[in-house]
Amino acid sequence: MAIPSNQVFPVGLALFAFIPEGFIVNLAAMKVTIQPAQRISGRIRLPGDKSISHRLAMLGAIASGQTIIDNFATSQDCFSTLTCLRGLGVAVEITGPNRVLVNGRGLHGLSPSRETLDAGNSGSTIRMLSGILAGQTFLTRISGDASLEQRPMKRIIVPLSEMGAQIEAREGNFPPLTIRGDKLRPIRYTLPVASAQVKSAVLLAGLYADGTTEVTEHTPTRNHTELALQTFGADVTCTEQRIAITGRPRLKGVRSSVPGDISSSAFFVVAATILQGSELTIEDVGLNPGRSAFISWLQEAGAEIKILDSTVQGGETTGTIRIKGSEIKGGRIAGSQVPQLIDEIPILAVLATQTWEGIEIRDAAELRVKESDRIQSIVENLRSMGASIEEYEDGLRVAGRQNLHGSRINPHGDHRIAMAFAVAGLIARGGTVIEDSECAGVSFPGFFESLENLVLR
Ligand code: S3P
Repeated sequence: MAIPSNQVFPVGLALFAFIPEGFIVNLAAMKVTIQPAQRISGRIRLPGDKSISHRLAMLGAIASGQTIIDNFATSQDCFSTLTCLRGLGVAVEITGPNRVLVNGRGLHGLSPSRETLDAGNSGSTIRMLSGILAGQTFLTRISGDASLEQRPMKRIIVPLSEMGAQIEAREGNFPPLTIRGDKLRPIRYTLPVASAQVKSAVLLAGLYADGTTEVTEHTPTRNHTELALQTFGADVTCTEQRIAITGRPRLKGVRSSVPGDISSSAFFVVAATILQGSELTIEDVGLNPGRSAFISWLQEAGAEIKILDSTVQGGETTGTIRIKGSEIKGGRIAGSQVPQLIDEIPILAVLATQTWEGIEIRDAAELRVKESDRIQSIVENLRSMGASIEEYEDGLRVAGRQNLHGSRINPHGDHRIAMAFAVAGLIARGGTVIEDSECAGVSFPGFFESLENLVLR
């Protein structure tokens, strides 16, 4: 398999190969029609975790020696990271099914790119890679698609500039970013917004600083960067709220296998939970506590989800989970819970319609600056399916015990909205058309086929 040079994953081809019976897809317009289901049943394994894949590839690029990554994410976002790394002179090979080899160039071995690096739709790529680019002595321009060009970058520009990088951005906040790296100085930085991407950008820049860089986070966010840095041999210490990294380590390439993506699993977990009589087993899925909060939340609200086994490799927990259809009470999600399940909110909003009491989500204004304004995308599309939902600046409240009807869903180019509403289509009356459905490939090419293969009608 070669990295697609135009970064477009061949979703159309994948669809031709896997279209299951009863699954209506219009390839010309890339629309998918979801028909109601009775239940879902079976076993699945999911493509590798997107967050972990980005980090392993980036660290592999600046380590010495080769990094071999198995079950690398198939997501378009992670291909964007590989394409950017290639632009910086890193030899990346894709061998075998989902195995990626990154030929590390050492901490100071990247070379300037003549072209603007294209991060596509990926906030993780542009924000985390900027941390590494801040430590290079050359100039890099990096941008992305129309959605990425609307996403805030000041959050990384502020700390990276404090460390000594010179960064220009449209209106001081938006891509394209022009980054002139420099010798960096260590800083002590308290995250003003609970963001793993910002934390990671500062820690990665910290690799290039003379001395120890410290990041304090009052609300914990996913810790994949800290774990990966430790695996590559960096000097990182983590206390409850503070992460310290000492600059100029010698990173050594690793061999690693990426767990299945827990955020992708959420769509299947919710589908199995809300379709009574379902029984689904998900194997080899990541269970890092900073990512599995939606599972604990669901369990507390009454979901029958069992962790059948788990192991830890490179600090990351992986396991098998079994989900059975069950009645969910509902409740509230707010405060420090939010960053722990931020990517699962679209699908939890769909689940909310099937709970006894509904779900209220607050303190989640970050949703407005994701791949789409997710609060607005959820509200608009749930309303189009006949749901009663209240919108707040920082969240929403979805009433429980609602009947949905099929409608035309506009995902606004946002992969998680497209996938969440495919699950809504399983419980709606009539067909649900997901427009622009190929956007699901940003995190999960083949999602609709994987879902349809588990459905019983
Ligand atoms: C991610 C962190 C989160 C998340 C995103 C992936 C990461 O973003 O929403 O999908 O891999 O670090 P923020 O750090 O902006 O909250």
